Amino acid sequence: MKKINQYIESVFTAPDPLLDDVLASIEENGMRQISVPPASGKLLTMLASISGAKRVLEIGALGGYSGICLARGMAEDGTLTSLELVDDYAQLAHRNLTEAGFGDRVTYMTGPALDCLEQLADRDETFDFFFIDADKENYENYLEACIRIAENGALIVCDNVLARGTVAHETAEPAWHTETMKTFNKILADHPKLESLLIPIGDGLTVSIVK
Ligand SMILES: C[S@@+](CC[C@H](N)C(=O)[O-])C[C@H]1O[C@@H](n2cnc3c(N)ncnc32)[C@H](O)[C@@H]1O
Repeated sequence: MKKINQYIESVFTAPDPLLDDVLASIEENGMRQISVPPASGKLLTMLASISGAKRVLEIGALGGYSGICLARGMAEDGTLTSLELVDDYAQLAHRNLTEAGFGDRVTYMTGPALDCLEQLADRDETFDFFFIDADKENYENYLEACIRIAENGALIVCDNVLARGTVAHETAEPAWHTETMKTFNKILADHPKLESLLIPIGDGLTVSIVK
């Protein structure tokens, strides 16, 4: 997995000083380096662009790396709503999106994402593109909440669904979220409202279409 990802990245991703600055800002602020890797970021940009995403919702902002990737792919009049537990992280992400030229097209909501999703549903807000990348224990809850506010044909993309490759290795010691992700992947695959596939880029991204 690691070698394949390194190969894909070396061939298909170009140096990106702006995203490097985001990573540096995360380092400077003593935060964990857990942004999506460059190839996953590029895939997010491409998916948002191919789907013509206009109303994008992200769960888990951190320093704004994936937010910039999503914003780069959105339609010209597209907007991003980003949910983040930690207020300082949301502020850093907003500074970085502003630096990237998207400051006026992103809104941050801070606090537990499930509460924010409830508020969005209460306000009858709907979205055509979702990116789920926060606490893994809540993925199933996030999925259901996203489906509730999804437009027909919306895309739902979820990160870390390979759990560092451990979901595929029966004999490997269960590691970080192995069982959670195995269960979650089955839910996606069998969900009557979704058509889904797992793309093994980075730590694995599932892409689902809401039927
Ligand atoms: C893996 S990081 C997100 C990385 C980001 N998507 C990127 O690639 O640039 C996960 C983020 O989810 C946030 N988070 C964790 N639990 C959360 C919750 N219950 N509600 C909202 N955000 C949460 C964390 O604070 C962290 O910033």
